[in-house]
Amino acid sequence: MCGIVGLIGAHEVAPMLVEALGRLEYRGYDSAGIATVNAGRLERRRAVGKLVNLSDRLVHAPLAGKIGIGHTRWATHGAPNETNAHPHRAGPVAVVHNGIIENFRDLRAELADDGADFATETDTETIAHLTARHIAQGLDPVAAADATLARLEGAFALLFLFEGEEDLMVAARRGSPLAIGWGEGEMFVGSDAIALAPLTDRLTYLEEGDRAVIRRAGAEIADAEGRRVTRPARTVRAEVARLDKAGHKHFMSKEIAEQPRAIAAVLDAYLGESGAALALPAALDVARAERVLLVACGTAYYACLTAKYWLEQIAGIPAEVDIASEFRYREPPVAPGTLAVFVSQSGETADTLAALRYVQGRAAQIVSVTNVEESSIAREADLDLQIHAGPEIGVASTKAFTAQLSVLLLMALRAAEARGALDAAALADRLSALRTLPALVTAALETDGPLKSAAAEVAEARDVLFLGRGVMFPLALEGALKLKEISYIHAEAYASGELKHGPIALVDNTVPVVVMAPRDALFDKTVSNMQEVMARGGEVLLITDAAGAEAAGETVWRRIVLPTADPMLTPILYAVPAQLLAYHTAVAKGTDVDQPRNLAKSVTVE
Ligand code: F6R
Repeated sequence: MCGIVGLIGAHEVAPMLVEALGRLEYRGYDSAGIATVNAGRLERRRAVGKLVNLSDRLVHAPLAGKIGIGHTRWATHGAPNETNAHPHRAGPVAVVHNGIIENFRDLRAELADDGADFATETDTETIAHLTARHIAQGLDPVAAADATLARLEGAFALLFLFEGEEDLMVAARRGSPLAIGWGEGEMFVGSDAIALAPLTDRLTYLEEGDRAVIRRAGAEIADAEGRRVTRPARTVRAEVARLDKAGHKHFMSKEIAEQPRAIAAVLDAYLGESGAALALPAALDVARAERVLLVACGTAYYACLTAKYWLEQIAGIPAEVDIASEFRYREPPVAPGTLAVFVSQSGETADTLAALRYVQGRAAQIVSVTNVEESSIAREADLDLQIHAGPEIGVASTKAFTAQLSVLLLMALRAAEARGALDAAALADRLSALRTLPALVTAALETDGPLKSAAAEVAEARDVLFLGRGVMFPLALEGALKLKEISYIHAEAYASGELKHGPIALVDNTVPVVVMAPRDALFDKTVSNMQEVMARGGEVLLITDAAGAEAAGETVWRRIVLPTADPMLTPILYAVPAQLLAYHTAVAKGTDVDQPRNLAKSVTVE
């Protein structure tokens, strides 16, 4: 959420800043801007909307300079317009910021009393004014930035640039991630490794509270207490550098198609070499855990809800699931013996991170399930399980969801093994079923055509209902979330059994009802709920397997037929048509699939 970047080098930075911002645009696209220092002069260009608008602006009003900072914005304080776009400037100081300054109103009032003239409604402008005041009081730029940092409350990643300083940038991290990239006579800073991937593969991640003084020759880092520290530089994986749509129209479609490979990567990582044994890290203490607590946001939360069914049914271990933003403020008791699991694609979601910190010292073990090894959540957990999905750029999560599910299923199997809920033969059966998953997901991708045709009609709807029972209920929730976030069609999901307790009042012939129901032990019950919908004129799109399609007959509006699979695997398989339906509906409506309005990835503010 908001991406920031900074470059000092031997070349003109404006085009490189724009290129790097393009790689951060998934974090926000309300506005973009850059600032540079050239011949001592600090100047900036900003534009509302997508980055392409800033590029246009730079064609007509280029910006020279070999040092610069840039920002792509997801608006928090102040409307998404050019005035509120970063970089913010006061006198000799320009600042880009990711996060929220909680005490900005007090600071702003103090600065305004002192004569500061505010041009914007943002919290960030306060930082620029405060630093400019410190410089006016005689501090050098680094000391001025330090004096400012000491006054700020909240969560942030910050970059400062100063008029007259062509070899100096100050970076600070509190709450939001920031990586420093090392080059030969050039240095880079970015919100993540993806931003810097084409520039360098040598990265140093700032720790919580760090401040760095960056010059062409290198970076000097001080910790929260102001002590000089050395942070390790590491080589980031090369796959981060590959960021293209590989012939797809959208990243989302590419990422949907990548799921067989992503799931295979999970199996490779967590099954023994022969694929016949679980090889999760020995440190994962599921044997002694008395209960599991799973906490996350959004799609990752639905992955946790699915895992609850697996943990209870396969491993016989009680599992609770919570939404991170609720959990963190409810002050719930955490019983001793709790294994706490935090699931987050980005590993930076502010609410999930805060929930993790809440259970520190309370839970028996804290495990994270993330897609970014260096992320805050991964680093603060006792143990991190990577989902190995590779960078997910589409704002709507797809391959990360099925990869999260795959890891959580393996964790449930490991718990079942450790607690004796599955004997060796039963476990071997489960694992051999699991190894068929990539092929099953490949087959599930073949529902693309029928779903595209159904989507042409779903695109006309104002409301859509999703129904699922048992482990299909979280999938219904995920299907509804996917549809609403990228097609902007109102969608709701219910446990099928809840239908007649209220939501059935919504059903008429204008509301498509998506029913997710493999032919399992609960199928007949779901069919009864489907009949209740059809009796009221509702048009049912049934996602099922061959046996389910046959049992349901011809009367349903559309049948989408998936391969028949072990019930344990169906949540992962049924995610695919849910994603494809949302994708094709959004394409039919002409919405911005990869960058839907009002959304951003990596939600680093609460
Ligand atoms: C929906 C979506 C979001 C995220 C949520 C948590 O498609 O992507 O709901 O799942 O913001 O993000 P992470 O997993 O990064 O913590």
